[in-house]
Amino acid sequence: MDATGTTPTAGPDGRRTVLIDCDPGHDDAIALLLALARPEWHVETVSIVAGNTTLPNAVRAALQVLTVADRTEVPVHAGRDRPLERALRTAAHVHGESGLEGPVLPEPAVAPRPEHAVDLLVRRLGRARDEGRPIEVAATGPLTNLGAALRRDPTIARGVSRLVVMGGAITEGNVTPAAEFNIWVDPEAAAEVFDADLDVTMVGLDVTHRAILPTARFEELRDLGTPVGTLAAELCDFFLRFHSRTYGFDGVPIHDACAVAALLDPTLVETRHLRVDVETSSRHCDGRTVVDLWSVTGREPNVHVGVDVDRERFLDLLVSSIASYPGA
Ligand code: RIB
Ligand code: CA
Repeated sequence: MDATGTTPTAGPDGRRTVLIDCDPGHDDAIALLLALARPEWHVETVSIVAGNTTLPNAVRAALQVLTVADRTEVPVHAGRDRPLERALRTAAHVHGESGLEGPVLPEPAVAPRPEHAVDLLVRRLGRARDEGRPIEVAATGPLTNLGAALRRDPTIARGVSRLVVMGGAITEGNVTPAAEFNIWVDPEAAAEVFDADLDVTMVGLDVTHRAILPTARFEELRDLGTPVGTLAAELCDFFLRFHSRTYGFDGVPIHDACAVAALLDPTLVETRHLRVDVETSSRHCDGRTVVDLWSVTGREPNVHVGVDVDRERFLDLLVSSIASYPGA
């Protein structure tokens, strides 16, 4: 375990302030439910990026999740509808066309806020920088919004106490043999983030594939008999289709919840401070996170790379957080 992160700033009520940037997406939705359940955090904003599905679908999905969770006071901001320099490539084969296929979801009870997510990130992180009160950020989709914000004003990095990214991998890929989806969608944005003056932790497939929620525990969620418990179980049911077909898993890696949990409690994920570069022009390895595991390049480490996870403690945190939501 290497020491990660500066001390997160407590908000006025003593809770830590966190911004979440996501592309709902089944595991994004569960990660959001986890974050919203935590007493340690004030989820100040949820910003949306195109990735698992189109931007309008992802915005709608986020609003539907907040509606089920009865947390429609949380501001949702739409961000970029395509990567910084490439065309958008989505993951309907994993998440369905809507991005949240499976559960029957209510119409959103709230609309997104008018401020564009990139404007929000530049404004809010700039304020945190100026006030000397850096805040936490979780990114569970392509890094397009954060990359665009950093391109506009690199100094906003000083407004971030700690950023945890779900993305990348040391050893494998899930959308190509070489690349993980979030990085592959927008490698240029990922390079902006990893090269910024940021305390960034990468929770990649090497970690998330060790934190499978077994199908037996889907029933723990379903048996809660609450709207959120049922939603989480049904999201897992649909998410299982891809993972059992592709990997033969008897469960699902809730990638994004693992990253959010690593932000909440850094002791959950073991990390090593390593050099990470992003491949942006390769026929076979485009979007790969090139992790210098043995420091052979001699280049300065820039990312805290997840290498292991306390699986049972993470899963217990996840299930107990979902269980904390009230009944209908
Ligand atoms: O590769 C997994 C990641 O890509 C997750 O964040 C999933 O939601 C998709 O965005
Ligand atoms: Ca995601």
